[in-house]
Amino acid sequence: MSSAALTHRLAARADLAEMTALMDLAIAELLKPYLDAAQIESSKTIMGLDTQLVEDGTYFVVEQGGAIAGCGGWSRRATLYGGDRSPGRDAALLDPNRDPARVRAMYTHPDYKRRGVGRLILSLCERAARAEGFVRAELVATMAGEPLYKACGYREIERFSDDRGGIAVPLLRMGKPL
Ligand SMILES: CC(C)(COP(=O)(O)OP(=O)(O)OC[C@H]1O[C@@H](n2cnc3c(N)ncnc32)[C@H](O)[C@@H]1OP(=O)(O)O)[C@@H](O)C(=O)NCCC(=O)NCCS
Repeated sequence: MSSAALTHRLAARADLAEMTALMDLAIAELLKPYLDAAQIESSKTIMGLDTQLVEDGTYFVVEQGGAIAGCGGWSRRATLYGGDRSPGRDAALLDPNRDPARVRAMYTHPDYKRRGVGRLILSLCERAARAEGFVRAELVATMAGEPLYKACGYREIERFSDDRGGIAVPLLRMGKPL
């Protein structure tokens, strides 16, 4: 791994393959302290890449020395979480005066964990959502994501589980004023 600084830019279609591989690795490795193998397998159905965010220009990559260290984004659309493969998506546009922006699909490559990649992406998302008039952000956290969001000021709204992947996976809805 290089010691170059972290840089960031909007994700492009050309990044899709590298981002998908990174997400698969992040789900497989970074959820291990929190979930058993069956729950991790189940997570793959309810998480992952949402190409709509890339199309919308609301998805970021953080790089170090030309390699993608992490990716994540926000959304002005109703879907609260999930990837292209997840059921129940809703592309309706949110109203910044009434609805919270969504923070979506945050993944750090395991080689770059705990180096501030997640924190950097979250701050980019919040700044961009604020610039579009949103005054609040909400997200659905995995157990791996919860410490990051707590550290960045998000507060618990409700705990629930999602069994659409076959086995129930614990999740947590969180929110923060922007
Ligand atoms: C969640 C995830 C994106 C965090 O990424 P990250 O780049 O390692 O996070 P950061 O380095 O920016 O962490 C910022 C702060 O969050 C907290 N934090 C992050 N990961 C933590 C962990 N595993 N344990 C305890 N605190 C943690 C710490 O306060 C940390 O600051 P510190 O390192 O200075 O103590 C990463 O773990 C991941 O990809 N997980 C698997 C996929 C996933 O579940 N994504 C979340 C979807 S909601």
